[in-house]
Amino acid sequence: RGDPRLKGISDAITVVPHFPKPGIMFQDITTLVSNPKAFKDTIDIFVDRYRDMDISVVAGVEARGFMFAPAIALAIGAKFIPLRKPGKLPGEVISEAYELEYGKDRLEMHVGAVQHGERALIIDDLVATGGTLSAATRLLERVGAVVVECACVIGLPEVKGRCRLDGKPLYMLVEPR
Ligand code: PRP
Repeated sequence: RGDPRLKGISDAITVVPHFPKPGIMFQDITTLVSNPKAFKDTIDIFVDRYRDMDISVVAGVEARGFMFAPAIALAIGAKFIPLRKPGKLPGEVISEAYELEYGKDRLEMHVGAVQHGERALIIDDLVATGGTLSAATRLLERVGAVVVECACVIGLPEVKGRCRLDGKPLYMLVEPR
């Protein structure tokens, strides 16, 4: 895309080769959120996109979605809700499983956090296979929310070219470094 802020955002992400395992090029966003200009540009781009879309809930995916979703929620006047790894939320939860490279994981959401008919945005730092965001979408849809879009900072080129996840809109700012 032509937005000049995207290069600064991409440049602020650090690649850590062979973390956490050999062969993985880890996309470290700690250097993005510790760069005030790049962090603000990231949040601003999302806020400009979503401020007039009548979104009432911004759901952040543990752990790195938590670094972006609350700032977006505050700026657009929506509530923030956390989608957490198993056993972290104290109240009654619903949960959805998703595949990992080895084994499975789950995401959980508090029952009552989102009402039927609410318009939701789901935020994470990165989409790779899309399994995590798909599970997040299923959680919101199970309680009758409308998932307006899933958005993340970094999308693999395969996914980014599609701009879709399970047939639903997926928005990504930059490709991996
Ligand atoms: C990473 C990343 C996304 C997910 C993307 O989280 O932050 O949430 O993987 O992968 P996918 O598109 O293939 O599902 P991770 O599972 O490492 O958890 P963490 O953020 O809690 O460390």
